[in-house]
Amino acid sequence: MDNARWERGQPNWQGYRYGVLWLGLLVFRGLKPTSYERSLFMSAFLKSAAKNGAIVFQGVGKSFARHAGQMLIRERLMLLLRNRHAERFHALREISFAIGHGESVAVVGHNGAGKSTLLSLATGLCQPDSRRVTVHGRTAALLELGSGFHPDLTGAENVCINAALMGFSRRDVRRKFGEIVEFAEIGDFIDEPVRTYSTGMMMRLAFSVAVTVDPDVLLIDEVLGVGDLAFYAKCQERILHFRECGKTILCVSHSTVTAMSICDRALWLDHGRLMADGPIAGVMDSYTAAMAAHAECSTQ
Ligand SMILES: Nc1ncnc2c1ncn2[C@@H]1O[C@H](COP(=O)(O)OP(=O)(O)OP(=O)(O)O)[C@@H](O)[C@H]1O
Ligand SMILES: [Mg+2]
Repeated sequence: MDNARWERGQPNWQGYRYGVLWLGLLVFRGLKPTSYERSLFMSAFLKSAAKNGAIVFQGVGKSFARHAGQMLIRERLMLLLRNRHAERFHALREISFAIGHGESVAVVGHNGAGKSTLLSLATGLCQPDSRRVTVHGRTAALLELGSGFHPDLTGAENVCINAALMGFSRRDVRRKFGEIVEFAEIGDFIDEPVRTYSTGMMMRLAFSVAVTVDPDVLLIDEVLGVGDLAFYAKCQERILHFRECGKTILCVSHSTVTAMSICDRALWLDHGRLMADGPIAGVMDSYTAAMAAHAECSTQ
C-alpha cells in the first residue's frame, strides 16, 4: 500500500530565518529555552520531519470505547438520552517522534503498552483520535499472525490478494510468485487452505510476501519468534539486507536479542506514553531496569 500522504515541498526560508533569530536569542540568554519554546521547537521539527521523514507521529493519541461485553440498543439509547458516553480507554497519549528514511527502530514495552496500536496507526488500519500520522513510501506490515489472510482461501490465493493490497499488479504477482513460494518453503501446502497451516507456516508465507514486494517501510509486530531456527536466521539475514539497502524498519519485539540485532534506535512505551526514544542500548537498559523493579514489587 502506498501511503505517501505528503509531497516534498520547497524549503521554508521564512522558517529558517525565525529559527536563526531564536537560536541567537537562546545563546544570548545562556541556552535555556522556556517550556513554551521547547514545545514550539519540537512542533516545528516534527512539521519539517513530516515532509521528509519515513514515519512521523505528531502528538498522536488513540482511545477505544471500554465496556464489558456488547451493549443492547436499549442501553445505548439510555446513554444517549442521558447525554453520557461510553467510558474510553487511552491506548496511546501524545506520541511524537520522527523516523528518517533508512532507520531501523524497535518498539518495546510491557504487554498492553500500546505497541501494536502504534503499528496499526502507522499502517493506516486505524485512525488516530488526535493529531497526525505520516508515512511515506510503499509499506509492508507483518502484524498479528494470520491477519490479512483469509482462512478458507489457499496460500496461493492469499499471496495474490496480499501482494495486490501492497500495490502489486497481477503481472507483478505472477512474476514474483515462484520467489515468494520458494522463500516460504511450504511446498505443496501452497495449494491448501490457510486454516490448515501451522502458526510457523502462516508466518513464513506472510514474511515471504512482505519482503518480496520490496517495500520502503517494513513494519513487524512480534512475529519472528514463531519461525523455527533455520527460518529465523533466514528472516534475520533478509532484514539486515533491507537495512543495508536503506529501507526503514519499525519492529515490535519482546526479545532484547532480536531488537538489538535489527535496530539501532528504540522507542519505549509505558501505559500508552512514550518514556524514551534514543540509541537502543540506553533505552533497553532503562526499560529492563523498570521491568525488573516492577517484577520485584509484584513478588513482594
Ligand atoms: N480494538 C480495541 N478495543 C479496545 N481496546 C483495545 C483495542 N485494541 C487495543 N486495545 C487496548 O489498548 C491497549 C494497548 O494494546 P496493544 O495491543 O497496542 O498492546 P501491546 O503493547 O501490543 O501489547 P502486547 O505486548 O501484549 O502485544 C490494551 O490495553 C488493549 O486492551
Ligand atoms: Mg501487541
